[in-house]
Amino acid sequence: MTGPLVSIRNLSVSYRRDASSPSLGNIDLDIAAGERLAIIGESGSGKSTLALAIAGLLPPTTAVNGAILWSGQPQLPRGGRDIGFVFQDASASLDPVMAVGRQIAEVAHTHLGLGWPQAQSRALDLLRRVRLPEPETALHAYPHQLSGGQRQRVAIAAAIAAGPRLLIADEATSALDTIVQADIVALIRQLVAEDGMALLFVSHDIALAAELADRIAVFRSGEMVELGTADAVIQTPQHAYTKKLLDAHIGLDAAPMIAATGHGHV
Ligand SMILES: Nc1ncnc2c1ncn2[C@@H]1O[C@H](COP(=O)(O)OP(=O)(O)O)[C@@H](O)[C@H]1O
Ligand SMILES: [Mg+2]
Repeated sequence: MTGPLVSIRNLSVSYRRDASSPSLGNIDLDIAAGERLAIIGESGSGKSTLALAIAGLLPPTTAVNGAILWSGQPQLPRGGRDIGFVFQDASASLDPVMAVGRQIAEVAHTHLGLGWPQAQSRALDLLRRVRLPEPETALHAYPHQLSGGQRQRVAIAAAIAAGPRLLIADEATSALDTIVQADIVALIRQLVAEDGMALLFVSHDIALAAELADRIAVFRSGEMVELGTADAVIQTPQHAYTKKLLDAHIGLDAAPMIAATGHGHV
């Protein structure tokens, strides 16, 4: 059986128990194993709600209707083991009073059952893979001793420490300046390719999405208004809202975005 890794069927989410004014409505979407899918849309369009729903991280008072199947099964994925989650702000996932190496090692220890020395050597390997400078020293650093970009590298290392099949990056680069952002996007692309993970890349930035994704889903006001290959969505957008997002970008830096689709000039 080679069905999708994640199947979302007629999903609606409301943060109110009575399911009035849903934050997400009637979403149907699959994520294939190894696929890189981007969710884009402006603030409040429901992107994080979808990401949290997939990871089973919505608050318990949330009304969820429809189905999310994981490898065809209606059970929740095992957080940390099946899905790695990287948030916009690394401090949402990192403990400020624990050395970063230990935090990464704990993920490997908990989910892979590795003994402590093996878990620590896996943490060191991961710090090397996310290209943290002086990884042996960095193992013992606390989050506040690192830069924002370095903290996000550590958060990524922790997210992939148990070898998840899906990496969810929710605005994971949005708080970083442009140069660091480009480095982190390149890192995510490399890690996902090396480990064969699927990627759900959540962003308000259509140019970044085009750089990373095989497919792009455009969200607006809790609805998915467009879904297609990255090339199709960028070059022949069907929905007026997608065109608006693209126009907003073309004024800024059309060239990098077009180059990012891999087809040179159009
Ligand atoms: N914990 C919450 N409680 C109540 N409403 C929420 C909560 N989280 C998000 N919302 C609302 O749900 C809608 C979608 O939010 P969100 O999924 O965070 O959008 P995005 O990630 O695209 O910015 C917004 O109207 C937001 O105000
Ligand atoms: Mg969000």
